[in-house]
Amino acid sequence: MYDFQPDLSLAPAERYRQLCDAAEALTATEPDGIANMANIAALLWEFVPDLNWAGFYRAIDGELVLGPFVGRPACIRIPFGAGVCGAAAASGEAQLVEDVHAFPGHIACDAASRSELVVPVMRDGHVIAVIDLDSPLPARFTADDAAGIEALAELLSTRI
Ligand code: SME
Repeated sequence: MYDFQPDLSLAPAERYRQLCDAAEALTATEPDGIANMANIAALLWEFVPDLNWAGFYRAIDGELVLGPFVGRPACIRIPFGAGVCGAAAASGEAQLVEDVHAFPGHIACDAASRSELVVPVMRDGHVIAVIDLDSPLPARFTADDAAGIEALAELLSTRI
C-alpha cells in the first residue's frame, strides 16, 4: 500500500511539489503507461481538493480517448478542437476555464462541473494525452494549479 499523506493545508506550490515527488516515485520503475495513469489519477484525487473528476484522455489517431480517471463515467471520445480537452490537445496549451458554461463548446460530462483545468502531456513535440481536472466550484483553478499540473505533465512525458 502507498500512503503519501497529502497535507492539504500546504501552499499550492509545495503541495504540487509533493504530488510530483509521489508521481515520480510511483512511476519510476513501471513501464506500463495505463497503470501509471491510473495511479496518477488517484494521486490527483488525493492531493488536489474540491474536484469532481480527475484523469486522462489519450491522443489516439487524431482524437482524444478516455483514459484512467476518478469521478463519474465520462464521454469516451473527444475530437481535437472540441470542448476544453480538445482545445488543449489542438493548441498544445493548458486551458484554465473559470466558468465552463461560458466556454464555447464545453462538453458537460458531469453537470456538477463549474470550472476546469486541462493540461497537455507532450512527447517529442506532440500531444500524447491531456490531464483533465474538473471542479464543482466556480473559478476553482489558479495559475498555481496550472503550473503544478504542467510540472506533472512534463514528468509524465516518458511515463505514460
Ligand atoms: N469537460 C470536458 C470533457 C471531459 S469531462 O469534463 C471529463 C471538455 O469540455 O472537454
